[in-house]
Amino acid sequence: MFYEKHSGSSNPLLIQAANNLVARRRAAESNDAVMLAARVGITPDAWQADVLRSTERQVALLCSRQAGKSTVTSLLALHEALHRPRALVLLLSPSLRQSQELFLKVKQAYGVLGGEQIQAREESALRMQFSNDARIVALPGTEATIRGYSGVDLLIIDEASRVSDELYQAVRPMLAVSGGRIVLLTTPFGKRGFFHHEWTEGGDEWRKVKITAHDCPRISPAWLESERKRIGDWWFRQEYLCEFVENTDQVFSYDDIRRALDPDVKPLFGG
Ligand SMILES: Nc1ncnc2c1ncn2[C@@H]1O[C@H](COP(=O)(O)OP(=O)(O)OP(=O)(O)O)[C@@H](O)[C@H]1O
Ligand SMILES: [Mg+2]
Repeated sequence: MFYEKHSGSSNPLLIQAANNLVARRRAAESNDAVMLAARVGITPDAWQADVLRSTERQVALLCSRQAGKSTVTSLLALHEALHRPRALVLLLSPSLRQSQELFLKVKQAYGVLGGEQIQAREESALRMQFSNDARIVALPGTEATIRGYSGVDLLIIDEASRVSDELYQAVRPMLAVSGGRIVLLTTPFGKRGFFHHEWTEGGDEWRKVKITAHDCPRISPAWLESERKRIGDWWFRQEYLCEFVENTDQVFSYDDIRRALDPDVKPLFGG
């Protein structure tokens, strides 16, 4: 058993008690990813704890830069792998480099766990396979690579507002079959694309969480004020206040176009 193997103790009562404790802790943690965060040494912000405890199948996180969205979703990914045997967790983003960044957070979190029962059997820069046959795979944001996967339990799309609609349409059916969860996390990027569409029109089917820089305890008001001056109002509203501001290269604003359209005309997205 786990304790016997790792402690070197031969007292059967002690071993039994310790094994019971480990089993109880595992059972509790499987229902509460905040316990995993604590083991990793992270005290989640209130919204991060809510996300870690959320059970909705579709979660959208619209967050400021540096709010902690990648951190919390990396913990979700690790929790899924450690507590769901044979789980398949996919990490997607606009580029392989960004997917790897998120994956690195997963690996770092796993590395902090002392005496973890579920061993990492295979580990590379792009995937981890565990002794319970769960896998976490980082993928570039291209349709061809994702089409090879099925039975996805958790699909995480980082920087979702910059991922193409084509890719999103390609992954949706995969979740329908597996009954898996999807978590989108991003800063906004104009009033366009699937993330904006799901956020504004997705209705009750999504658990939506919006965290501006003012909501993040690690970003000081003084630093934010200097950042606003440095990058200008437009970028500041997008990057730190989570506003879907118009893209600078758009000739007509999204609202102008919508007003010009007959209400019966199909929406721009998916029309
Ligand atoms: N609950 C927390 N407690 C302490 N530090 C945290 C917490 N959550 C996140 N951080 C730290 O805050 C920093 C930003 O976190 P993270 O990279 O997850 O943010 P992000 O929203 O993904 O940022 P970006 O927009 O740059 O991708 C990191 O250094 C991370 O370790
Ligand atoms: Mg991030």
